Amino acid sequence: MRTDHFIRFERVDAVEQTERGLLARLHGEWLRLEAVRSDVVRVQLSRGGVFDEQPTYAVCVDPFDGDGDGDDGVAWRAEPGEDAWRLTTDDAVVTLWLDPFRLDVHRPDGSVVVESVPDEDGRYWTYATLNDAWTMRRRIGRDDAVYGLGEKGGRHNRRGRDFTLWNTDVLNEHATAEFRAGLDTDDPRADMRSVEFDPYYVSIPFFHHLDTTTGAAAGSFVDNGYRGEYEFSRDDEYRVTFHGGQWTEYVFAGPSMPTILERYTWLTGRASLPPIWALGYQQCRWHAYSQADVEAIAKRYRADEFPCDGMWLDIDYMDGYRVFTWDSTRFPDPEAMLKGLANQGFRTISIVDPGVKHDPGYEVYDDGVEKDVFCRTEGGDIYIGQVWPGNTAFPDFATPEARAWWGALNARHVESGLAGIWNDMNEPATGEISPLGMLFDKGRAKHERFHNQYAMLMAMGTLEGLRAARPELRTFILSRAGFAGIQRYAANWMGDNQARWDHLWVSMPMACGFGLSGQPFVGADIGGFQGDTEPELFLRWMQMGALTPFARNHSEVGVIEQYPWSFGDEIHGLAREAVRLRYRLMPYLYTAFVRASETGEPVQRPLVLDHQTDPEVIDVDDEYLFGRDILVAPVTEAGMTSRSVYLPEGDWYDWHTGELHAGRQRITVPTPRERIPLFARAGGAIPMWTEAPPSTDGYRPEVVELHVFDPVSDGRWESLLVEDDGLTVTDGEPERLTTTVVVSRSGGEVSVSYETSGPGYAGHARTRFEVVRHGR
Ligand code: GLC
Repeated sequence: MRTDHFIRFERVDAVEQTERGLLARLHGEWLRLEAVRSDVVRVQLSRGGVFDEQPTYAVCVDPFDGDGDGDDGVAWRAEPGEDAWRLTTDDAVVTLWLDPFRLDVHRPDGSVVVESVPDEDGRYWTYATLNDAWTMRRRIGRDDAVYGLGEKGGRHNRRGRDFTLWNTDVLNEHATAEFRAGLDTDDPRADMRSVEFDPYYVSIPFFHHLDTTTGAAAGSFVDNGYRGEYEFSRDDEYRVTFHGGQWTEYVFAGPSMPTILERYTWLTGRASLPPIWALGYQQCRWHAYSQADVEAIAKRYRADEFPCDGMWLDIDYMDGYRVFTWDSTRFPDPEAMLKGLANQGFRTISIVDPGVKHDPGYEVYDDGVEKDVFCRTEGGDIYIGQVWPGNTAFPDFATPEARAWWGALNARHVESGLAGIWNDMNEPATGEISPLGMLFDKGRAKHERFHNQYAMLMAMGTLEGLRAARPELRTFILSRAGFAGIQRYAANWMGDNQARWDHLWVSMPMACGFGLSGQPFVGADIGGFQGDTEPELFLRWMQMGALTPFARNHSEVGVIEQYPWSFGDEIHGLAREAVRLRYRLMPYLYTAFVRASETGEPVQRPLVLDHQTDPEVIDVDDEYLFGRDILVAPVTEAGMTSRSVYLPEGDWYDWHTGELHAGRQRITVPTPRERIPLFARAGGAIPMWTEAPPSTDGYRPEVVELHVFDPVSDGRWESLLVEDDGLTVTDGEPERLTTTVVVSRSGGEVSVSYETSGPGYAGHARTRFEVVRHGR
């Protein structure tokens, strides 16, 4: 977006100190600067003299009550100066320059968190506005790196490119037309099937800015749901523009990326602990199945001893794509089917789109009209867009009534025995029809205010309904679209990808971008959604996908079958080995989710998160850490027989051969068909099941193995194992067992010790650990 003609805020008229910081008067508006924590500062600018106190649903805590004790406890002081005011905490120094107006944040050592930058005419663009849009420009080093913005295409390091935040149904030519318009045909962004296409389904206005010369990172979260533009392609400055709403920003002083992420997920919430079955392997396909087909697939998984926890039902289970109905011809007895699947250890999840068929006489539609819970147009009509059933109405999730209504519909829907809900088309996708006529909040709010939040509000309603129906059970919702905070309600899959190698690759940086933006529970359609997959691609995708947070095989209607058994015995067997490894790693994976739910740290982690001062990892996005201690280096091309792997600091054991490698070097490793390169961190203790059960259902092993990877240098390593029933929610102290394993080495002596604490849980059967040593 062109912003040169925007009107800059040039001078501050007055500043006063308030209870929480500074309040300045400029250009007829108010600017608030407040210390949220010692390393987090909030900046807010009014519009029309009024602050929008709840711009979005992203922030879920009172930012001024960090530890919940009712007292903000942040020590700060404000000092007036000749040409600037200063707000100082233990970790940040905010300078508000009066004339010309500028806003800078530094750390106490003088290093830059954010800094205004003059243009060639010496003018500052700390804030400029035109009509409802506003923009800001800041300094960035030429070689600095940028990570985050959630689900974005292309390289993990966002530097060098510009991005739009506007939830988009990526394969819809109408929704994407404006983003492709005017681009050269050889620009990959002109092609919605390219890995560079932008924007995507999910928008998260949060990023980490890494100063690569010092290794220090800063963070920015703009709490604004309107369409946003982040321009990181310029040499010395970045620009952030929103098409509406206010400038409400949380600036994170860092300098460590995990700390920034911890603070960001404190504000916007952490993923709630998923039911363990959601971490199992999931079978999905868009296909007009009958009840008998689904039962046969389930049977086949069990007969083949191929572990699987989830059976998914796409849109064809419905009667004419009417949400909350079943096609009674194809599914004569859903309850019996769901019961039968449950008896074999399968959980069944069904799709629920937001579009309600415009069909007077259909109960859900009629009820929605009667209760007045659908979005309206400016003229007061019910807004109509298009989804699978044709004309559809959309619940006005910006209102609590519509969310409650939707929640109750979901609660009733799962009474049949469904275990989870899959929310799709929630950008919202409206087919050929522009979504902009869809107003929210009973016609009071423009579409743009809630567009990016629609999916999150839908998930909020769904979650409330599921919780009310089954208060004792953890919920599981999978969503395509999302906004900052979506992690509190749902997992995200990466939408409609292609059965192509470049899409296998891009799912890594995409997952890592999600992870650095607070959403740990993510996965791409394994095998590829659109287009016929190929045997080798399928196998390599299964080997990688088995080691991603969410592991679901899914494909589009009309493409070749991509069941594990669709490509012959060899691939079937190898894919099963890959999925069995996931199940054997379940205690480790589950514990990684516990950490994510407590600290916000991702499960699929880019190397840069833990090694931000190592210049070698800045652009590494074809490998990742799965949990803290396993490095995964997938096969990303057809016919690959070996690949280069960068091992970060530490020592690493080749998972397959046991060979030890020192970190901070690149090595080349073979990639035979049987496996992809994996490495375990020396010092780590990785808890594993001794075998891969058919599903997680009722699996209560007596023995858990602790795979200890002997350290080769002196030091102390702590690993964690959290065990609980994997299903229920407990009030107060969690009913679980927490084991901390300490591996230490001094003077050639390695010792392993562990300590288990916690009240335990019903059904616990483990009687012992078996320590398996790797190394000398
Ligand atoms: C969308 C979803 C895809 C699903 C299809 C039919 O394209 O992204 O996963 O299979 O709709 O429901």
